[in-house]
This record gives sequence, C-alpha cells and structure tokens, in this order.
Amino acid sequence: MKHGYFITGTDTNVGKTWATLTLMTYFKQKQQCVLGMKPVASGCEQQDGQWRNADALAIQQCGAVWVDYEIINPYAYALPISPHLAGKSHPVDVEVVLGHFNTLQALAEVVIVEGAGGWYTPLNATQTIANLAQALALPVILVVSVKLGCLNHAQLTFEAIEKATLPCAGWLAVCSDKDFTCIEATIASLTAQLPVPLLGILPYLEQGDFHYLATKIRI
Ligand SMILES: Nc1ncnc2c1ncn2[C@@H]1O[C@H](COP(=O)(O)OP(=O)(O)OP(=O)(O)O)[C@@H](O)[C@H]1O
Ligand SMILES: [Mg+2]
Repeated sequence: MKHGYFITGTDTNVGKTWATLTLMTYFKQKQQCVLGMKPVASGCEQQDGQWRNADALAIQQCGAVWVDYEIINPYAYALPISPHLAGKSHPVDVEVVLGHFNTLQALAEVVIVEGAGGWYTPLNATQTIANLAQALALPVILVVSVKLGCLNHAQLTFEAIEKATLPCAGWLAVCSDKDFTCIEATIASLTAQLPVPLLGILPYLEQGDFHYLATKIRI
C-alpha cells in the first residue's frame, strides 16, 4: 500500500519545496520514517563534478534516513528552464522515476514527491507533470501561494488534477508574498472555491523554520 503525497503548485516558485520540507518534518514529528523526492529539477550547480539542485539537496537532508542523491533526483538539469528543453539530450523517463520512487517506498513509511513547476510543466516531448503524478498514483496536494492571481490559478490547477482522475488530498496556503495585504479574505475565497480540505496555512517567515511550520499542518 503506497503512502505518500505528490506536491504540485499553482506555478513555479510558489512554495512547493517549503511545503515538502514542512510535511516531511510533520511526519518526522509523528515518528514516521519519511523520505522525499524531487525527481526532476531544472537549475543546478556543480558540486564535486556533479549537478546538484538546491531543492533536492534540502529534501535529501530532511529525510529520516540517508539516501543517495541520484535516487532522490535522477534528473538534475543545469539550466533553470522547462525540463523538456533543459533535458533535450537526456529526457525524463517516467518509468525510471517510478523505479526510484519504489526504492524510496521500500525504505520509508511515507514518501513526499515534489513536482517541478506547475501541473502541466512539460517533462519531455510528450509528457507533463500530470503524467508523472498519474504514474506514481499518489494523492496530490496543491500548494497555493496566497497572492494576487491565485484564485484563478488554484481553480485551473484543481480542475486539471481532477481531470487526471487523481485524488486531491487537499491544499496548502503558503504566504510567501510578504507584501500581499488581503491574505485572510483570499484564503476564505479559496476555501469556498476548492472542494477539498485546507491542510494548513504556512505563514510568512523570513527563514524556513520547518519545525514551526509543521505545527500548522492538519492532515
Ligand atoms: N512561508 C514562507 N514565508 C516566506 N517565504 C517563503 C515561504 N514559503 C516559500 N517562501 C519563499 O518563496 C520562494 C519559493 O518557495 P519554494 O522554493 O518553496 O517554491 P517552489 O514552488 O518549490 O519553487 P520551484 O518551482 O523552483 O521548485 C522561496 O524564495 C522561498 O524562500
Ligand atoms: Mg521547489
């Protein structure tokens, strides 16, 4: 029986990694063996001759047990552009990701998988994040960055998740825009509009304190 979540968001840069690290910390606080995965990452730097992505490194560090980087992030593309463009010479193979996910699944009670970009981010010539989520067959958590435009993006993404016939476990409100002045009313509108549970409101923090943020999760 698979236990885990696929983390998608309304866009790139909306708080998926913070949400992933918060959820991993939440499960660790519940004494559950949790691992994370960032299977496809665009935007990497060289470390000891290998391409490494900051999100994937943070997810590796946060795991309850140590796992080799290549299992967590099999596709590490140098350029911070769409994976289907960044990975032209080494495109994403969803079956490879599924194999690595199964390895993590065998090591952990819970596996949290962070997507890349948004729901329809192209992974290769024919597939998007939606196809990857379908292959993993995990319940999806939708991360919504609470800012201007999010009501539209949240609805579009939610409907696309439904179209993929995957269960949506709920949504997370991430207050990553410190200048946005209409947080409460926007969260109320999102709550009215999305027919799945609000799993937590992650407040704006200058530094990522994931132990604190984990106290905001209600799963
Ligand atoms: N609760 C928060 N408070 C303050 N800043 C936040 C919060 N959550 C996220 N951020 C900031 O918002 C930005 C985007 O967050 P994050 O990296 O989690 O997004 P992402 O959706 O994973 O992006 P990507 O598409 O690159 O993977 C980062 O600069 C992060 O520091
Ligand atoms: Mg990220």
